Amino acid sequence: MSAETDTSFEVEIASTGQVFEIPAGQSVLHTLMFEGVDIPFACEGGVCGTCLTGVKRGEVDHRDLYLTPDEQAKNDCFMPCCSRSKSTRLVLDL
Ligand code: FES
Repeated sequence: MSAETDTSFEVEIASTGQVFEIPAGQSVLHTLMFEGVDIPFACEGGVCGTCLTGVKRGEVDHRDLYLTPDEQAKNDCFMPCCSRSKSTRLVLDL
């Protein structure tokens, strides 16, 4: 998947049950920040690892350069500053 073919999807916050729509042109990190969900971040480019967030359900579309291919394949965490979702919803361990 590339930026040209990005689609919207939903993220659910596991601890609260809140669901947010992530628009095609906006990152999970930015969407959640606007909604008042705090996630630490630094590079916003998938490099530093600061925004690492656990994933409970859903299939991640990994786009970072931080996780190893093995770590990405586990599908239990992702980088919300740049990565997206292959499934219609990601449930985040937040
Ligand atoms: Fe650096 Fe997400 S903010 S990897």
